[in-house]
Amino acid sequence: MTRVFSGVKPTGHLTLGNYLGAMRRWAEVDQYRADALFCVVDLHALTVDHAPARVRRLSRQAATLLLASGLDPERCTLFVQSHVDEHARLSYLLECVATDGEMRRMIQYKEKAAREQRRGGSVRLSLLTYPVLMAADILAYRTDEVPVGDDQTQHVELARDLAVRFNHRYGHTFTVPRATSPAVAARVMNLQDPASKMGKSEDTGPGIVYLLDEPDVVRKKVMRAVTDSGREVVYDRESRPGVANLLEILAACSGGNPEELAGVYESYGALKKDAAEAVVEVLRPVQQRHRELCADPGYVEGVLREGARRAREMARPVVDAAYRAIGLLPAGAGEGAAEEAVALNAAR
Ligand code: TYM
Repeated sequence: MTRVFSGVKPTGHLTLGNYLGAMRRWAEVDQYRADALFCVVDLHALTVDHAPARVRRLSRQAATLLLASGLDPERCTLFVQSHVDEHARLSYLLECVATDGEMRRMIQYKEKAAREQRRGGSVRLSLLTYPVLMAADILAYRTDEVPVGDDQTQHVELARDLAVRFNHRYGHTFTVPRATSPAVAARVMNLQDPASKMGKSEDTGPGIVYLLDEPDVVRKKVMRAVTDSGREVVYDRESRPGVANLLEILAACSGGNPEELAGVYESYGALKKDAAEAVVEVLRPVQQRHRELCADPGYVEGVLREGARRAREMARPVVDAAYRAIGLLPAGAGEGAAEEAVALNAAR
């Protein structure tokens, strides 16, 4: 069965971008067709300036929203990254396979490091090595597919490269994963600045629709979206990025495709109105279920505990195999380990 792994980082409130680019497919498609794991990747939230209590709160909220979006713990494994030691264990080994140059070429590193420096802050070393930890998240489960939005494809490419390099040097250990992205809304743009991604970690703003925004707030944000000069509704990401973004959001929320929808509208106002309502309708059941789940925090905790147990069981043998393959001496636990050591000695 295909193994799927993906995650969200608790650095801010989850957005419509997270939902349309990733979460919705996990709930509607991936958990039914694959052996799927979904993870709140809290260690990644420590790579930038953070407040401990906020990370804890956002981690819990992200897990709750993932369940609210339709993940079913009977069908998939939902857990928190820091509850499974294997991620950090494997990350170090992969740091010994990745190169400094490779890390510095990552677009998100360059952008985030520049932003941090502009603010006069310092750049954490973990921000540079972040994609290696992400590769560890993926490779620890022998993942085949990683359903993500467009902004993560370079990181998944790196995970591929590291898997291939590790396997080539130390023997076949990892499955080589590939990214999958949705047909529309793989990159939802900021409504006030359609040249940049709608991102949860950026400052809050009227251009970002959060999954927990009240319907009237959603309507206001969409109605005030920046559109382009010109009047007729055409789908062209290059010359009409604002309108294209609205068409993609509408297509993703109501079905249909952005080119065809462009032909239906005669004014930007009508497009915005329908897009706003479509978003409100898509978020309604998620918000409803989120309210119910918030009333039962013990349930969410139980799901995460069981998820971590299952995840640990899956990751441990893979990471142990990587430790042995790369040349680390097995901890001498009983006869099995001694025999294995003898066999390994003979083989090398
Ligand atoms: P994160 O938390 O930034 O985003 C979670 C998922 O949402 C997608 N996404 C978007 N899709 C479309 N339009 C947008 N505006 C938009 N914003 C976010 C992201 O592509 C992602 O799929 N590094 C990852 C988390 C991670 C991970 C992993 C993912 C850590 N380890 C292993 C997959 C596998 C991140 O920061 O995602």
